[in-house]
Amino acid sequence: MILVTGGTGLVGSHLLYHLSLKNDAIRAIYRTKTSLENVKKVFSFYSSDENLFNIIEWFQADITDVPAMIPAFVDVKQVYHCAAYISFNPNEYREMRKVNIHGTEIIVNLAIDAKVDKLCFVGSIASVGDTVKGQLTTEEDEWNKEQDNSGYSITKFGAEMEVWRASQEGVEVVIVNPGVILGSGFFASGSGKLFNQIYNGFKYYTEGITGFVGVKDVVEVMIQLMSSNIKNERFILVSENKSFKEVFFLIADTFGKKRPSKKIKPWQTSIFWRVSSLIAVFTRKEPLLSKYSAKSAHSISKYSSEKIEKALNFEFKEIETVVKRVCKKYSN
Ligand SMILES: NC(=O)c1ccc[n+]([C@@H]2O[C@H](COP(=O)([O-])OP(=O)(O)OC[C@H]3O[C@@H](n4cnc5c(N)ncnc54)[C@H](OP(=O)(O)O)[C@@H]3O)[C@@H](O)[C@H]2O)c1
Repeated sequence: MILVTGGTGLVGSHLLYHLSLKNDAIRAIYRTKTSLENVKKVFSFYSSDENLFNIIEWFQADITDVPAMIPAFVDVKQVYHCAAYISFNPNEYREMRKVNIHGTEIIVNLAIDAKVDKLCFVGSIASVGDTVKGQLTTEEDEWNKEQDNSGYSITKFGAEMEVWRASQEGVEVVIVNPGVILGSGFFASGSGKLFNQIYNGFKYYTEGITGFVGVKDVVEVMIQLMSSNIKNERFILVSENKSFKEVFFLIADTFGKKRPSKKIKPWQTSIFWRVSSLIAVFTRKEPLLSKYSAKSAHSISKYSSEKIEKALNFEFKEIETVVKRVCKKYSN
């Protein structure tokens, strides 16, 4: 039996489709029935065969609820832990710690108790360190706790520490650290919002650089790692390092929409996040821009995926191909 957490999210739903093509029994955690519609939608992008979705045994639980999660581990041999709380809103830090760190601690403890063979954890480049300017960041660059890290980065690092503990207690682990994941089906949240906003005429861009990767590549690597002899290793998953400007323009061109035309300078975002935070104090709503989103919009971070490319002889799809594939599904 394979257990998947976060099966109703971007990574989890694409992962579930690819797992459903194999012969293993699959159990997936969900919280609300409405979120299952997203998964059905993602499956429909790949195939009209509804039986593939019906293969999955859906198990309702919150990963932070230990009693509810215990039965989810019955007969489980492999775990894909994709569930996480993703936010750059400082007001959500506590909840993020609860889901990302404590939730992962629970998954790890239950995996150890159930004598699971192997656990695949979806980390992030947010929990990999920076490197010397101009060089590519690798898995060897350690996360620096002294830096001004975002709550997301702190909690993804904390979660990864829990997963390393599993490796010390008899469970084989593989960790993937993807860059910004581009994929279809979730256009109202996360990176999917980018497509939505540009389609609707978003005007602004920045010249910060980061790593991007397609969701299909992410889940293919995860599945290959889980069926390989590789264990207790982490892998950066980035297809290409690109500027936000390049990716925004690529999306606009593919949609046949006007390219964002207003370049935002660091001092402008710096004022904007401060004003947004102040307004949020009074309105008690999420700030329109957080300090860390502002920072990452301008920072230049480049990553190397050489380790995974060599380990699996894997070739990532170019971001242009990924963007074209995602845009095609936008209006479905
Ligand atoms: N998207 C990216 O660009 C990106 C980049 C790097 C790494 N990652 C990592 O990739 C993983 C998957 O991200 P994603 O983009 O697929 O995120 P997503 O679309 O926001 O999905 C998050 C998933 O986690 C589930 N979840 C959240 N809190 C939970 C809880 N308390 N109990 C049970 N399930 C819970 C959600 O369930 P509901 O449907 O019930 O909310 C959903 O299935 C995360 O670990 C994330 O940190 C993402």
